[in-house]
Amino acid sequence: VVPLDVIAEIPRLRETLSHHRGPVVLVPTMGALHAGHRACIDEARSVDDATVVVSIFVNPTQFDRGEDLRTYPREFELDLERCREWGCSVVFAPAERDVYPSPQRVWVEVEGLTDVLCGAHRPGHFRGVATVVAKLFHIVDPDIAVFGQKDAQQALVIREMVRQLGMRVSLRLARTVREGDGLAVSSRNVHLDPDARRRATAIHGALALAARRLREGERDPRRVEADVTAHLAAAGIAEVDYAEMRSAEDLSPLGRIDGRVILAIAAHVGGVRLIDNAAFEVRGGDVIEDITIF
Ligand code: PAF
Repeated sequence: VVPLDVIAEIPRLRETLSHHRGPVVLVPTMGALHAGHRACIDEARSVDDATVVVSIFVNPTQFDRGEDLRTYPREFELDLERCREWGCSVVFAPAERDVYPSPQRVWVEVEGLTDVLCGAHRPGHFRGVATVVAKLFHIVDPDIAVFGQKDAQQALVIREMVRQLGMRVSLRLARTVREGDGLAVSSRNVHLDPDARRRATAIHGALALAARRLREGERDPRRVEADVTAHLAAAGIAEVDYAEMRSAEDLSPLGRIDGRVILAIAAHVGGVRLIDNAAFEVRGGDVIEDITIF
């Protein structure tokens, strides 16, 4: 077991990291760590000589009104055990007053990328995400940061922020981790009752159906989206925020399926909002499945 430094104060974090040699690799999280976070931590640990810093901070500014910040799972002691077991070097768990020392007046808005998909359904969410991630990048000053491809839109928003603000961090993505039946691992899965849990596998089924349609030569995004929506409806998943094919580079809409594309789904199953996606590279008749978006 690797000794784990658990740090809340920003000056102590900076002091501690100044003694570490090798790249600092940050995995930003809101805690309640699961196999998806572990994949990010494993990706971080694959960097030679890395000092792996996991931040745990439930960021209030990214919760929109419909969501309850207070019921977000908090399992700090368990998270520390997981971080120890998974070989992290530092857990940075700042207090809210240190991340937001005064009423926030400086926001990071990534236009365009945040108007669609989850951005259209969760007003202010990505502004909160981009702002807190910018703060974490300034505080931790990582060489590398790792995010999950399951939150593909978040990853693209952060990539654009890093590019446009000239931040020095490089970004890496970890693949989506799935349960045996295909359901993407998420902190929200614990809220699914047994019936909803069973039906939720239709989301992965819909992604697999889309892959099949692409292999069969379908290149009309509207037809694939219609098939996906019908597949979800057949499983009793009628409340679909979106099931859309878009460019995997910038989420722009597609007239025809070509190049690097993503199928992104957000659907409510038994009162729980789940998201998932699959990315493809389509070149003429060839389809490469399960690509990473960057
Ligand atoms: O993906 C998450 O857990 C959060 O959105 C993040 C990146 C830690 C920012 O609060």
